[in-house]
Amino acid sequence: MSRNRVTVIGAGNVGATVAQRIGEAGLADVVLVDIVDGLPQGKALDLAEAAPVVGHDARVVGTNDYADTAGSDIVVVTSGIARKPGMSRDELMATNAGIVRSVVEEAARRSPDSILIIVTNPLDAMCHVAMEASGFPRERVIGMAGVLDSARFRAFIAMELGVSVEDTHAFVLGGHGDTMVPLPRYSTVAGIPITELMSPERVQALVERTAGGGAEIVALLKAGSAYYAPAAATFEMVDSILRDRKRVLPCATLLQGEYGVDGLFVGVPVVLGAGGMERVIEIGLSDDEAAAFQRSAGAVRELVEVLHA
Ligand SMILES: NC(=O)c1ccc[n+]([C@@H]2O[C@H](COP(=O)([O-])OP(=O)(O)OC[C@H]3O[C@@H](n4cnc5c(N)ncnc54)[C@H](O)[C@@H]3O)[C@@H](O)[C@H]2O)c1
Repeated sequence: MSRNRVTVIGAGNVGATVAQRIGEAGLADVVLVDIVDGLPQGKALDLAEAAPVVGHDARVVGTNDYADTAGSDIVVVTSGIARKPGMSRDELMATNAGIVRSVVEEAARRSPDSILIIVTNPLDAMCHVAMEASGFPRERVIGMAGVLDSARFRAFIAMELGVSVEDTHAFVLGGHGDTMVPLPRYSTVAGIPITELMSPERVQALVERTAGGGAEIVALLKAGSAYYAPAAATFEMVDSILRDRKRVLPCATLLQGEYGVDGLFVGVPVVLGAGGMERVIEIGLSDDEAAAFQRSAGAVRELVEVLHA
């Protein structure tokens, strides 16, 4: 029996770190692809040379040729450019949409049964591009954002209360970043809602820090953006799918009437297994939560409209 195969497109910070985590876990062979000649080959060789020390047998190869990606079970898309000074959000979106469209067309043709995990920003809009470019059903086009946002929230809850991250759980809905909708009443420490453990002001402060989590790292790094936590979050999704674990994770998925939204990718809790996004978990929302969710979905709708303008 052969090992699973995961293609990671974009051998930058996030892509290479995803490749490292998958390889080191021995979860799958990895094909790392980039448009820059030598970059994926060099990083893959470096990772392969770490394998004897780490002690895994997963093969990691780098390439600029999509023929090498054929037959992948999962394709992770991290290729894109970061916003440059003077570049508008819409210009960034147009550039990354072009990149995501072209790489997904290439990869989907070689791996028609694969499951796509989209990471490139602006995340929710890029999921729409990937779905159009691949022609895949919604079960096989999934966006990574909620796992990262909830990991950040969990980290801040654990720091605030001085408890293990293992016992913290967070529930986050909606679009990525500043439009996310954290649900404190479903965010718990060992089953206890955090609203019982800290003041509303502290909860609000952690929520705001989480929504600005990406920007906080950018401000510290000065060049580049977060990648360890984004890569760990992406790995968790890959692991749940390849090992058919049925983890319940917040992911961007195409809603078809769930949560009162139709035809938009928005972050909601889903079951991730061998079939990809196997089920949307729908919960009742209070009026305030529902309004915040609709605002978040509205932000995604605006981006998609710009995309199609
Ligand atoms: N969804 C999330 O929560 C989340 C979190 C972190 C980063 N991101 C996004 O992920 C993306 C990657 O971030 P990063 O830090 O790894 O950036 P990076 O600049 O380090 O890497 C991007 C890579 O994409 C490659 N690339 C560009 N065009 C390509 C093409 N046409 N074909 C193949 N490769 C191409 C570049 O050469 C580069 O190596 C960004 O869009 C970033 O905003 C999303």
